Amino acid sequence: EKNRYRNLQNGQWVESRNDTYITIKSPIDDTVLGMVPAMSKEEVDMAIETAKKAQKQWRNVTTDEKAEILYRAADILLKYKEELAELMVREISKDRKSCYSEVERTADFIRFTADTGKNISGESIPGDSFPGGKNNKVSIVRREPLGVVLAISPFNYPVNLAASKIAPGLMAGNSIVLKPASQGCLCGLYLARAFQEAGVPAGVLNTVTGKGSEIGDYITTHKGIDFINFTGSTEVGAHISSITSMVPLLMELGGKDAAIVLEDADLELTASNIVAGGYSYSGQRCTAVKRILVVEEVADQLIEKILPKLEKLTMGNPLDRDVDIVPLISTNAADFVCELIADAKEKGAKLLFGGNREGNLIQPTLFDNVTTDMRLAWEEPFGPVLPIIRVKDKDEAIKLANESEYGLQSAVFTQNINNAFYVANKLEVGTVQVNNKTERGPDHFPFLGVKASGIGTQGIRYSIESMSRPKVTVINLS
Ligand code: G3H
Repeated sequence: EKNRYRNLQNGQWVESRNDTYITIKSPIDDTVLGMVPAMSKEEVDMAIETAKKAQKQWRNVTTDEKAEILYRAADILLKYKEELAELMVREISKDRKSCYSEVERTADFIRFTADTGKNISGESIPGDSFPGGKNNKVSIVRREPLGVVLAISPFNYPVNLAASKIAPGLMAGNSIVLKPASQGCLCGLYLARAFQEAGVPAGVLNTVTGKGSEIGDYITTHKGIDFINFTGSTEVGAHISSITSMVPLLMELGGKDAAIVLEDADLELTASNIVAGGYSYSGQRCTAVKRILVVEEVADQLIEKILPKLEKLTMGNPLDRDVDIVPLISTNAADFVCELIADAKEKGAKLLFGGNREGNLIQPTLFDNVTTDMRLAWEEPFGPVLPIIRVKDKDEAIKLANESEYGLQSAVFTQNINNAFYVANKLEVGTVQVNNKTERGPDHFPFLGVKASGIGTQGIRYSIESMSRPKVTVINLS
């Protein structure tokens, strides 16, 4: 059938062996986009076995040849840009412009990964620098792959957050089993096709589609998996980490990124960054600005700057035109956001903008006077709603920021470098952005979350390092 998708297994595109499929529908209008195999545990076994065998050859392919394959994959991906971006608009309800730029960003990511991989070198360490050591002893440190990497990608960047696991994993000499989130998996399979066409050998990249409830625990606890790179919710990430044992994990999870606004901030710049950072793709980004902690003194002025920008946001069907606010990924997701909105209203927050819903399309929503007893102060909506929490000074902002269970990023807006560093140094997060919205890119920067936001560090070189280990050979000269 035309819209029956297949999985890449040992270099072949294979149908469901048990004739069981998952139907992928568009969150925009429920049209059926395709069907993917709901793979069984036996099929998962086959994918992992294949990957295990193929990795033994792949690890010996020269770094230069691996890089050439990645360069070709980037070119092929760009060749499919239009087709893939159009599919992405439908599959995850993202505006067209962002879908195009996701594909371009991914091609850049893959190329940069190849460049970086070619430039990673080992080191030799003389033995005589440690007390009692001698100069006839030298440690030669090189990196070697881990084996089979399980890459689990989320719905919101179905191409980029799959490639950002596959490309560094391959470059480090691992084979990959990609298990994309069901919503977004059609784009993920498309990406796998680009790698396959670029010459990734049979078995080195395999895809698995299926229901998390059936194969999720099975695949993550599978003995054949040597490393797991997961992006998704904290709930699922914590579950994976509780059921796995002795397998290194690299995880990027939820966030509640704060924009801290001090009395000396450039409020125009701050407001633009808050609106772009909070509402793009309807807030469905782990790094979206998810709370505003503003000092009382400038809170009213900041609101005055934010409101006209909210009015300018466009919303609707991303198939018709580029809109800022799109229907959320699922009805459950939209229901959850509305629960948080209702809770804030009930507990006395002041609704400044939005608050309404039509189907899964939720207006950009802004609340003032949010207090710490409200769910919106702490929970991650993954939707277009932002709380303003007024604070008396930077110390109160830091305290509230750090009280969150999450620790992905924070932004601090101030024109005083001393204040910027004062705040940045005290925040318990992976990254602090000074005078900019929270965001992952540029993609060669380290990207990490602390506390409930993740384990390990991503970013091109960091991901290659995470997916490889030092191999030490010690030479003892006589
Ligand atoms: O959703 C999680 C992504 O890693 C965020 O990436 O900051 O480029 O939107 P972004």
